[in-house]
Amino acid sequence: MLLIDGKKTSEEIESEIALRVSEIKQEGGKTPHLAAILVGNDGASQTYVGAKVKSCEQVGFESTLVRLEENVSEEELLKVVADINENPAIDGLIVQLPLPKHISVEKVTNKIKPEKDVDGFTPANVGRMTLGWPAYVAATPYGIVELLKRYKIETSGKHCVVIGRSHIVGSPMSILMARNEYPGNCTVTLTHSRTQNLPEITKTADILIVAIGKPEFVTADMVKEGATVIDVGIHRIADASKKSGFKLIGDVKFDEVSEKASAITPVPGGVGPMTIASLLYNTLLAAEGKVYTK
Ligand code: GUN
Repeated sequence: MLLIDGKKTSEEIESEIALRVSEIKQEGGKTPHLAAILVGNDGASQTYVGAKVKSCEQVGFESTLVRLEENVSEEELLKVVADINENPAIDGLIVQLPLPKHISVEKVTNKIKPEKDVDGFTPANVGRMTLGWPAYVAATPYGIVELLKRYKIETSGKHCVVIGRSHIVGSPMSILMARNEYPGNCTVTLTHSRTQNLPEITKTADILIVAIGKPEFVTADMVKEGATVIDVGIHRIADASKKSGFKLIGDVKFDEVSEKASAITPVPGGVGPMTIASLLYNTLLAAEGKVYTK
């Protein structure tokens, strides 16, 4: 069984990015600059944004964190986005989700200039990705594609089953795996909460991508011998034996599924660490003007 090590791969990608940043600086070019907007005090969001800012520093990027109160108006937030859109010093912008209930995610996302949308969440980037044009691809699907590529997982002609149809993981993943390039050229089945006979379908998957958000949902009896299994889930479960009082588990029952799979991502250390590497990569592309060339 091949363990697909997202931690190691993300470190390799971040070293490659750091190298490119030092070249840019030596050539007298502009240092890539990512801005993040964080609204409110959600603990998980603070941790994620903090990790993104720290990773920017590690690869030599500049970063700006804009923190806004939980009760900020939608209008004020839209104004901050508009200002960053027009600020030539900033190459990439992310608005950390979730946003408070009184703010429309659609309105805010749609306000981000597509050229700076390094999360790949705007309709322009989703559309470009779907058409196979150069685009900022959302961090999680992009990270998965990169893992499949770097671990040389065969995809052409294979049956890829995706569990979960979210806008930020399942749906783009299904499009990327079906496109006419590597990794891709799969026959794709996109499954979701209304799918009937799910285990019958997952048992035919050569590549199984699980983004359903339910702890240890996928068990060994749902997996074909020799499948590649990608686990996007991440859940905190109480564990008195740990100093922190909890452990992290995925959407896949790792111990039993890893016995059957030919390759599998662990949790933690699989897909998770790849998401920040993807965001940094998109920011580098933005700084170098490599996506919006047509
Ligand atoms: N919240 C959870 N994942 C993400 C992400 O990839 N980007 C942003 N902006 N917010 C998130």
